[in-house]
Amino acid sequence: MRSLLDVPDMSADEVAAILDLAERPIASLGRPLDGQGVALIFEKPSNRTRHSMEMAVVQLGGHPVYTRGEEVGFDTREPVEDIAKIMSGYHGMIAARVFSHAVVERLAAAADVPVVNMLSDHSHPLQAYADALTMRQCLGGLDGKTVAYVGDYNNVARSLAEISALLGMHVRFGCPPGFDADDAELERILLLGAASIEQTARPHEAVVGAHAVHTDTWVSMGQEDDKEARRQAFEGFTVDDAMMSAADPAAVFMHCLPAYRGFEVTADVIDGPRSVAIQQGHNRLHSARAVLAFLTSRSETGEA
Ligand code: CP
Ligand code: NVA
Repeated sequence: MRSLLDVPDMSADEVAAILDLAERPIASLGRPLDGQGVALIFEKPSNRTRHSMEMAVVQLGGHPVYTRGEEVGFDTREPVEDIAKIMSGYHGMIAARVFSHAVVERLAAAADVPVVNMLSDHSHPLQAYADALTMRQCLGGLDGKTVAYVGDYNNVARSLAEISALLGMHVRFGCPPGFDADDAELERILLLGAASIEQTARPHEAVVGAHAVHTDTWVSMGQEDDKEARRQAFEGFTVDDAMMSAADPAAVFMHCLPAYRGFEVTADVIDGPRSVAIQQGHNRLHSARAVLAFLTSRSETGEA
């Protein structure tokens, strides 16, 4: 049974196959979820992930069932494992957005159907597929291209770095001390296949010559109590026109959204001509459909 909890759950070839699937006409995928439900459980708010997943399920012939986290109550109303086993009898797939990554791991261990991580404190693999698809559309072949991520080394950054590494890109981080990747993490990403990996606390250096410049909020969902301290820690890490001018002249600006203008990015950049954030958001649908079609085909063949 194949699940998608983290980007490296797929090989480089499988990532490429899913990106190819994302660009195929919807009708060519058939209706692999015909007659099946897909549980979509959200412990946190969402716009893109909920809507793209619901529509992806519909486009594949299935029926999405949206559920708020408090309704199922992971480990409060009943154990995660009981929820996974019961839902496996109703649905062809279970997807969850959770605070603790351990919850999606436990769901996957107990379920008889594929489990998809729709964002945890650790990773956001569905976002990474949309990021990679968008970079491929904007930059052409990604092998040997440079992706720079400026800001907080968080769930989005980790999944982006992993998929970029699997696609053979040069990966650069510009992150302040205390909000960066440790040496073991850098080594792990390099070993996934990155052309190179570098990290600096000087964000302008991270973007020099980069083909895609990414950022994300400095205050992720669940970190709101630390908002002021975090905003101080990230001073100087705003992606602005001056920073973008250090990148490749044809570089694109990317953001998973929601964006906080004036903090991690200026309005001039995210609303300007180099920004592909809306295309990236729309690609959440195409990449989600591809991930679900891929997982369904793998569970039909009984592949472990
Ligand atoms: N990028 C992303 O996951 O957006 P939502 O939180 O709106 O789903
Ligand atoms: N890092 C952000 C991503 C939101 C899509 C968060 O976890 O809130």
